[in-house]
Amino acid sequence: MDAVLTILRAAGELTRLRILALLRRGALAVNEIVDVLGQSQPRVSRHLKLLCDAGLLDRFREGTLIFYRLSDTGLGQQLRDSILSFMDEADPQILADRDALKAIRHARVARSQAYFRANAEKWDEIRSLYVPEAEVEAALLDLAGSRAIGHLLDVGTGTGRMLQLFADRSHTGLGIDLSREMLAVARGELSRLSLDHCQVRQADMYGLPVDDGSQDLVVFHQVLHFAEHPEDALREAARVLAPAGRLLIADFAPHDEEMLREQHAHRRLGFDTDEVIRWAAEAGLKSRAVRHLDGGRLRVTLWRFDKAGMPDMRGADSKVGEAA
Ligand SMILES: C[S@@+](CC[C@H](N)C(=O)[O-])C[C@H]1O[C@@H](n2cnc3c(N)ncnc32)[C@H](O)[C@@H]1O
Repeated sequence: MDAVLTILRAAGELTRLRILALLRRGALAVNEIVDVLGQSQPRVSRHLKLLCDAGLLDRFREGTLIFYRLSDTGLGQQLRDSILSFMDEADPQILADRDALKAIRHARVARSQAYFRANAEKWDEIRSLYVPEAEVEAALLDLAGSRAIGHLLDVGTGTGRMLQLFADRSHTGLGIDLSREMLAVARGELSRLSLDHCQVRQADMYGLPVDDGSQDLVVFHQVLHFAEHPEDALREAARVLAPAGRLLIADFAPHDEEMLREQHAHRRLGFDTDEVIRWAAEAGLKSRAVRHLDGGRLRVTLWRFDKAGMPDMRGADSKVGEAA
């Protein structure tokens, strides 16, 4: 009873209800919440602390910025979702807060686009070396199988492209990346596309911020070549995969484009197919399919692994099982 009372007390105040309604659209930095509410920072911080203490919100840090998002577990989440379901979306206060938030997000997208423009040339240079991205994405969708995805984890999410690609098939999507600039771009994109079930968070591929056995699909798209210790990253991915979970990796086959190491910070110049399969096997993952996409100077390899010991009876993808 005490727990319920604490939650109801925390939610039972106008500013705090406004905050909950606002965060329904995704995580916000504390300064953004302050701007929308038009109240002093200490006052807003007090409200946020009460909401966090009651389990209605989670607080996280990205570099120097503190962010808040709706919590996604426990009684706090259940009661809060129920309270939010009674709130009228056409309430003038909610609409006014949304408009203010929209203005803030437009500013954020404009900042992200500036970052994008600054880096676009660099990325285009790499893209020109291999098959069109659309081909890689079609193959990834195919390899993932048609089964619905509960929780999707996109490691090294960059602009959040993989979250977007699998958005229709996933119940929740979480993208993690070390780079705050990339996360800002991803947030802008997710918000522009209204993908409210997807979030991004700053984290390292070696310490994924999710529980053991909690993820249905983990994706590494053009990320593993940045890893100093790819085998450790795969072990960490295996840890978080659910018993029938799937892992998809897309990366380059071995190549000698030294410029990618010198100018683009790649640690590895591609991966041997069997080397990745061996690391995955050591992490307890079973190889289900490998595909190679040729075209251009770089060959792209796609690997699909399943958590071993749990046959994927529900998978409907006929192509799985292709020769490694
Ligand atoms: C080529 S980009 C992103 C590709 C992205 N997955 C996509 O599909 O567009 C690689 C990303 O990996 C991120 N990254 C590099 N090392 C990382 C690490 N140790 N942990 C998390 N992200 C990392 C980089 O910041 C960068 O955003």
